[in-house]
Amino acid sequence: MVSLTTCVFLVLLGFGRLVHSYYTEEYRPQFHFTPEQNWMNDPNGLVYYNGQYHLFYQYNPNGTTWGFMSWGHAVSTDLVHWKHLPIALECESDSNGNVLQMFFSGSAVVDVNNTSGFAVPVGKSRYGKVIYSTPMVAIYTSNYPTAHTQSNGVVIRAGQQSQSIAFSNDNGLTWTQYEGNPVIESPPAQYADQYQQFRDPFVFWYAPSSKWIMVASLAMEHILLIYSSDDLKNWTLQSQFGPENARFGQWECPSLFPLYVDGNKNTVKWVILMGINPGGVITGSGTQYILGSFNGTTFVPDPSDVYDPSQIPAGSTVFQDFESISSSFEELGWSATGDFSGLGPQNASTVQVWDIMGYLGTGVMTTYLFGDIAKGTITSPTFTITKQYISFLIAGGYYPYNPATAGTPDDNQVSFSLVIGGQVVHSQTGTDTEDLVWRNWNVAGWMGQEAYFIVTDVNTGPFAHLHVDEIIFSDSPKDEGNWFDFGPDYYAAATYNGLDINHRTVIGWMNNWAYAQNIPTSPWRSAMAVPRTLALKTIHNKVRLVQQPVSSLSSLYTSKLYSKQIQSLRAGETAINVPAPYNARMKLTVQFTRGSGTQFGVILRANTTDTQETVIGYDFLGQNVFVDRFKSGDNSFVDWQPNPYPGHFIATLPTKSTDCITLNIFLDWSSVEVFDGQGQAVITSQIFPLDDSAQVKLFSVGGTTNLVTVSVNGIKSSWT
Ligand SMILES: *[C@@H]1O[C@H](CO)[C@@H](O)[C@H](O)[C@H]1NC(C)=O
Ligand SMILES: *[C@@H]1O[C@H](CO)[C@@H](O)[C@H](O)[C@H]1NC(C)=O
Ligand SMILES: *[C@@H]1O[C@H](CO)[C@@H](O)[C@H](O)[C@H]1NC(C)=O
Ligand SMILES: *[C@@H]1O[C@H](CO)[C@@H](O)[C@H](O)[C@H]1NC(C)=O
Ligand SMILES: *[C@@H]1O[C@H](CO)[C@@H](O)[C@H](O)[C@H]1NC(C)=O
Ligand SMILES: *[C@@H]1O[C@H](CO)[C@@H](O)[C@H](O)[C@H]1NC(C)=O
Ligand SMILES: *[C@@H]1O[C@H](CO)[C@@H](O)[C@H](O)[C@H]1NC(C)=O
Repeated sequence: MVSLTTCVFLVLLGFGRLVHSYYTEEYRPQFHFTPEQNWMNDPNGLVYYNGQYHLFYQYNPNGTTWGFMSWGHAVSTDLVHWKHLPIALECESDSNGNVLQMFFSGSAVVDVNNTSGFAVPVGKSRYGKVIYSTPMVAIYTSNYPTAHTQSNGVVIRAGQQSQSIAFSNDNGLTWTQYEGNPVIESPPAQYADQYQQFRDPFVFWYAPSSKWIMVASLAMEHILLIYSSDDLKNWTLQSQFGPENARFGQWECPSLFPLYVDGNKNTVKWVILMGINPGGVITGSGTQYILGSFNGTTFVPDPSDVYDPSQIPAGSTVFQDFESISSSFEELGWSATGDFSGLGPQNASTVQVWDIMGYLGTGVMTTYLFGDIAKGTITSPTFTITKQYISFLIAGGYYPYNPATAGTPDDNQVSFSLVIGGQVVHSQTGTDTEDLVWRNWNVAGWMGQEAYFIVTDVNTGPFAHLHVDEIIFSDSPKDEGNWFDFGPDYYAAATYNGLDINHRTVIGWMNNWAYAQNIPTSPWRSAMAVPRTLALKTIHNKVRLVQQPVSSLSSLYTSKLYSKQIQSLRAGETAINVPAPYNARMKLTVQFTRGSGTQFGVILRANTTDTQETVIGYDFLGQNVFVDRFKSGDNSFVDWQPNPYPGHFIATLPTKSTDCITLNIFLDWSSVEVFDGQGQAVITSQIFPLDDSAQVKLFSVGGTTNLVTVSVNGIKSSWT
């Protein structure tokens, strides 16, 4: 029999986070890196040396918002447990309090051959031979807010950004700035006016030419500059890359590294990974990659990896481009009902709704007419499925088709659907943005069958409209750009120097400049996403950058807490019982195949009234993985009026109806990271639920989901 005292003891254990102790504040990440206190952004100077992973990071020693930027420092032997170390490079001010130098983002290398000449004698061997240190060298951007003349005579302009170096002869603990700084004072002459937007040097050793290589960004120009050096001090410009692919806002924090394709040592591709802000996959901060080749001086992107959103894939057929803006839908062979009858495609630049972005040509099909109040349907002529994919551009509000409510008084869909044999077989809604993005449906299973599209807008609420453009039929999905993570919270990704090609490891900042300084945490602000291992994998005939959490994370997993196989999961919600405290911190893996339902997923951090929940799942109709944080908890940081930051995030994952889909979900106290089985559709999102929102449920929408297996491991804290 369990005694009362044991019970009390267990309760205390279960709610250990209520007891005041280290790293147990509300929302404090338990298996993610955070500084003990104050503001953090980009990871910097990631380097592995002598059994230690160094993590430097953008840090404000003075507060929980951005400012006084310095390099914080931590080390780990396993990328899971971290030890905080003193600030490595601290913001400098003059005696009047003017900030003279902030230490912006950059990288670090270990100069094993003393190319820099920074090595110093550190002792003598038994035989009297002098032993030298191995210098660690940091390469960073000096941001100089105040005009001044340095003690070495260099004249600095206000707001100037230059590349500088510092070295450490005690394994990164203490640092000395090079007396000749900055080592690259200004951008090349033709970009001289960009001297305030020149930053984020990533440096690595390129053995074939025995050179150090630097990639740095001209942020506003969307150009990366590639330099080389023999000694880390004297840099020579070799080439430039860009603008290419996503080129909104600013390009920041570039890196360049090789990986094997499909593990094959004879096929190497080089990867450029970079941050974009604003203008990421949702809005605000995002991360993109581009594959290509590098020969020591020049990066050449693969033609198949150069993304032009306006380019229709070769061999595809345009079904409807909505360019006939003076025709009615009837004249185009379509039909329309309700408020849309008699109308036709609209001139996108005159639809009065903020700014529609990303349409092709002039015309779009839209249900935004006289505001969100328009209701009705727009239906295409019937066609025969002849190609494996249907691709189209779509934007608008998030109101998915739900077979359980369609046609009933509860119907609130604003959707674009494909109907075959009287059934909706694919459907896509918006994600609460006006930016049209490409979506793809795999229709291989219906080859030769008759089909039609229908837009259904029965909703007059906020954002209750949809824009659709450029419907095409093709043999391969239309890429929407190489987004590295499809969630809102993954930026400034950097990779480790000092590891071999099979262990390329990335750390990203798990936040977004759109709202970063408002997230409800204290006394720290911002976490790093879980370190991830990178690989290149051929999927649907295209090489993709894929990622999985580092394998050492498994050292924190508890034994299996829950495991179940369900032949056919019924429609609706099914609670599963995960013991506290691990319902707030777990690795949950689900595998499933399509049944008669349209969506399957997991509800995490739900409260008993279902008024709080984070929803993660797969939409068989839209063919995407999704994370929904609309109701995940404290959303004050994104609840701007009239248009809050979107709360529904999707990653396209085309599948066949017989496919077994895997989702690996990593839940911490204030974040969720979702990876599909191959690591190509990844969504990272912060959430801030109440402590007692502790339920875990499975759900299937509109019918069954088949062959469901669920397995849950708790994740122990890496801090206590
Ligand atoms: C912190 O802020 C104070 C006052 O604004 C300033 O004098 C000091 O230099 C700052 N510290 C650092 C490390 O930047
Ligand atoms: C490293 O370079 C410096 C400067 O050239 C030199 O004084 C020192 O002896 C070198 N150390 C080694 C181990 O080569
Ligand atoms: C150090 O020198 C060796 C021998 O020349 C060379 O093979 C190696 O690539 C160099 N490594 C670095 C990081 O300088
Ligand atoms: C810098 O490197 C370039 C190219 O290797 C060389 O021509 C030049 O002399 C070097 N300058 C100095 C000051 O070492
Ligand atoms: C690298 O490639 C560029 C562009 O193709 C070419 O101009 C350059 O000569 C090449 N450099 C080397 C070292 O092969
Ligand atoms: C679309 O509207 C814009 C803005 O009013 C106008 O400049 C443009 O000529 C229109 N395009 C067509 C094809 O009517
Ligand atoms: C559930 O969530 C809502 C909204 O965040 C909250 O007001 C309520 O207190 C929570 N708890 C229960 C038991 O409903």
